[in-house]
Amino acid sequence: MTRKHVAVKGLNVDFEKPVLKNVFLDMKKGEFVSIVGRSGTGKSTFLNSLAGFMETEGEIHGPGRKAIVSQNYSLFPWMSVEENIAFGLEKQDRERVGKIIRRIELEGKEKSYPYQLSGGQQQRVAIGRAIAYKPELLLLDEPFANLDSYTRITMQEWLNEVMRENKTTTLLVTHDVDEAILLGDRVLVLKDKSFRHEYNVPFNRPRDNEIRYLPIFQELRREILKSL
Ligand SMILES: Nc1ncnc2c1ncn2[C@@H]1O[C@H](COP(=O)(O)OP(=O)(O)O)[C@@H](O)[C@H]1O
Ligand SMILES: [Mg+2]
Repeated sequence: MTRKHVAVKGLNVDFEKPVLKNVFLDMKKGEFVSIVGRSGTGKSTFLNSLAGFMETEGEIHGPGRKAIVSQNYSLFPWMSVEENIAFGLEKQDRERVGKIIRRIELEGKEKSYPYQLSGGQQQRVAIGRAIAYKPELLLLDEPFANLDSYTRITMQEWLNEVMRENKTTTLLVTHDVDEAILLGDRVLVLKDKSFRHEYNVPFNRPRDNEIRYLPIFQELRREILKSL
């Protein structure tokens, strides 16, 4: 177990012009880091770089076993819930599918297809599939952005609980500052091509969504919003 589970050093990504420039990030094992930033600042590009999807310059060190969940549910439409979750798992891991389905609260929907599920249910399947794989690094790219606000809050609470059980090292990209604070141990602000600000989240776990009404939460939220 190394102190640095993830280490990014001097990362550069260019499309026609530079999108990320000289980006650094260290993460400890089991840490949950949230990344916020305005639209187009390169949040998805950063996550995709860690996933190995991008041509990059610089160093990226991290575990090999990674899973990414994007904002579009990324389920196979022709596969049922249980087939989606079992996909890519080795035989001995398929026994866990039933447990995952209970964990994502979709018992009775095992044989349903994605089109028969609500957006929140589909996104739970996508996250369940990622967790079933037992990644050492979980990458979440605006996983709740397309959900209505009530469902989003329910999902945030749910994810907090799931993460408490699994303690998977997780990087969450979101434009929702509340979400970043609710879920993260740290919040990083991506701006002008790199991380410009870092905030420690001063709440113990387990956390409940009610912390969002505390003055200290509101202060932190205000400070982060100002720095975007
Ligand atoms: N495949 C691509 N080709 C060219 N430009 C891209 C590509 N993907 C993203 N970009 C550009 O890179 C910048 C960062 O995009 P992105 O990482 O998607 O931002 P965010 O996720 O923060 O909204 C944007 O200016 C976007 O237009
Ligand atoms: Mg994005």
